[in-house]
Amino acid sequence: DNSGLAYSVGTTLDRFIKLKQSEFPFASGELSQLLRDIALAAKIVNRETNRAGLANIGGAFGQTNVQGEEQQKLDVIANIRFMRALSKGGEVCAIVSEEEDSVIDLQNKSGKYVIAIDPLDGSSNIDVNISIGTIFSIYRRKTPPGSPITKEDIMQPGRDQVAAGYVLYGSSTMLVYTTGHGVNGFTYETSLGEFFLSHPSIKAPLDGSIYSINEGLQNQWKNGVKEYIDECKSKNFAARYIGSLVADFHRNLLKGGIYLYPSTEKNPDGKLRLLYEANALAFIADQAGALATNGEIPILNIQPSSLHQRTPLFIGSKKMVQRFESISKGKV
Ligand code: AHG
Ligand code: MN
Ligand code: MN
Ligand code: MN
Repeated sequence: DNSGLAYSVGTTLDRFIKLKQSEFPFASGELSQLLRDIALAAKIVNRETNRAGLANIGGAFGQTNVQGEEQQKLDVIANIRFMRALSKGGEVCAIVSEEEDSVIDLQNKSGKYVIAIDPLDGSSNIDVNISIGTIFSIYRRKTPPGSPITKEDIMQPGRDQVAAGYVLYGSSTMLVYTTGHGVNGFTYETSLGEFFLSHPSIKAPLDGSIYSINEGLQNQWKNGVKEYIDECKSKNFAARYIGSLVADFHRNLLKGGIYLYPSTEKNPDGKLRLLYEANALAFIADQAGALATNGEIPILNIQPSSLHQRTPLFIGSKKMVQRFESISKGKV
């Protein structure tokens, strides 16, 4: 599958991408370059994150984003870094970002790819030295390059992603991505400035005993969620909730577990955003043998209707998500 060339744990991200290029959709080299651009921006954000406490880039930025959330300085910095990396490369024609009100049309005549990105995920955890992340989805544009960007290019269901991934700035920094041929994870070696393959062909445990939900909102849950969480407790499952989606997802992906962000009174459609949070993780889950649903249909099947639309998200080990679905049917 990789033209006879071998890779193994310890292979650099660059080399891995090169070896894998033939199995990338369209295999033209542009997607490879795009992934390298993202990795570079991730290194820069990693650096900023590491020194945030010293460099006076912690705390609030003093503005709210289009969803009414108070932006943190690092939200804004990460957004700028990724915007720059993605617009300079030439492969991208349009970007959807959590921190931008509308689509950024790069007016790039040759760009074939559309990106949706959450530049900094878990921003409430920045100032307290807890894991944060970046989430990205990559699509091929539907209309021919050179023509103006249309709704059709942007509003693609998760099913149509050609690649997706996340960066976890945690106790170590990792890049995990898929191009639809399994999921691979790379760990950043700070002193060398390189990502190295550390988690080849990630497969999620079929079942698990961790549940992750903001339990403080229990009084706002629908009955289906209540009943499922009661069952988790009756089985003495472990409750683990970091409050950074990337970190909670990553742990459950490796250890087996379920993450739930249901609809609440305050957020009737849930809190998480379909285009740049749920879809990418749903694609990775799918590729790792896990599942993601909004309680009614697979996340990947949702036809988006607006840029910053929210969705309930139930994602994780296949058997746990299936069990959740059967308990909560009609009650989420
Ligand atoms: P972001 O920091 O990108 O706005 O995302 C915040 C999200 C997600 O990371 C996390 O899982 C969730 O908000 C936590 O929400 P609660 O504080 O309501 O639990
Ligand atoms: Mn936010
Ligand atoms: Mn987020
Ligand atoms: Mn964010």
